[in-house]
Amino acid sequence: MNHLEDLLARAVAQEPVADAEWIALLGLRDPEACAMLFHAAYEVKKRYVGAKVYLRGLVEVSNLCTKNCYYCGIRRGNEHLTRFCLDRHEIVDTALQALDFHYGSVVLQAGERTDSRFADDIAEAVAEIKSASDGRLGITLSLGEQEKPVYATWFAAGAHRYLLRIEASNPALYARLHPADHSHAERLRCLELLRECGYQVGTGVMAGLPTQTLEDLWSDIRFFRDFDIDMIGMGPYLMHHDTPMPERFPDFHPTQEAQLSIGLKMIAVTRLFLRDVNIASTTALQALSPHGREEGLLAGANIIMPNLTSVRYREGYKLYDNKPGTDENAETSRDKLIESIARIGETIGFDEWGDSRHFQNRVK
Ligand code: 5AD
Ligand code: SF4
Repeated sequence: MNHLEDLLARAVAQEPVADAEWIALLGLRDPEACAMLFHAAYEVKKRYVGAKVYLRGLVEVSNLCTKNCYYCGIRRGNEHLTRFCLDRHEIVDTALQALDFHYGSVVLQAGERTDSRFADDIAEAVAEIKSASDGRLGITLSLGEQEKPVYATWFAAGAHRYLLRIEASNPALYARLHPADHSHAERLRCLELLRECGYQVGTGVMAGLPTQTLEDLWSDIRFFRDFDIDMIGMGPYLMHHDTPMPERFPDFHPTQEAQLSIGLKMIAVTRLFLRDVNIASTTALQALSPHGREEGLLAGANIIMPNLTSVRYREGYKLYDNKPGTDENAETSRDKLIESIARIGETIGFDEWGDSRHFQNRVK
């Protein structure tokens, strides 16, 4: 048995694997070696969460954002953007399409706002989605850093999962990507608050950031474990031209192949290491390759978030350049997705919430 086969066999069997070996997996370059890694992660996925994809209908509620993360296309400082915000009725109507499509749950996502009008609107929208769907739709929120009473109110209204990416577990790397008033410690505190409120907690990072090392990525995965995270959403960092990133990192020009590869390797190593968590195959992978999301599923992911947002608003929610699907409606996105998931031999958990096995095991 060659070294890689031996290492992957140990990872699959949950035998000891050293830090340096996990880092070596993240650093694999040879396509055949990567394929072996993805295959091993897929075996673990089948064993722990099954070859089944859960869908979360994504509602992009608003591109207004009070923050100014250097990498993000909808940052406050981007003036080349028409801002939009769905009203409560539009949020509810958009979310309820998930029932017709048999998606078991929805994600409400928006730029960060902490005004009380926003908090109230979201609470009402969540409660309405809950009652109008007779409690059938699971509701995940991805609305940034908030005070504990706001998290608690939204939880009481019926949301039960929350996604808040830490973006980078290394505070020094985080500091290079955010203005000085964006606090890594505060973000960590928010993850703790979410846990205290009873949410299933999701986090994640971007992979392939300028100055990010393989050690950083391995620390990210250990951070997921140390925080006992239930669900993970991560994807490759992609440039947006109307952000300070090109100017800050003028020599950073990764190939699309390298970006896709690091995104997939992060999924695979996370699956091998954490086994029973939910891992999303994100749209950023699809931006790099037409079948990027399917490749994510084959590397160990088990969640896809098809976009329900009206085409009218999609152009305004571009976090990075070349975001796919901005010109296609929810029906077309759905039909294409269902077909491509069937093509790779996976089934879809229609009408199921698809809570993370890790969460189920954690609360047992
Ligand atoms: N490339 C990839 N992902 C991005 N995000 C924001 N900007 C980019 C980008 N340029 C991710 C962040 C954020 C999530 C909503 O989108 O991780 O948490
Ligand atoms: Fe706002 Fe999130 Fe973009 Fe940062 S990453 S600017 S918080 S939408």
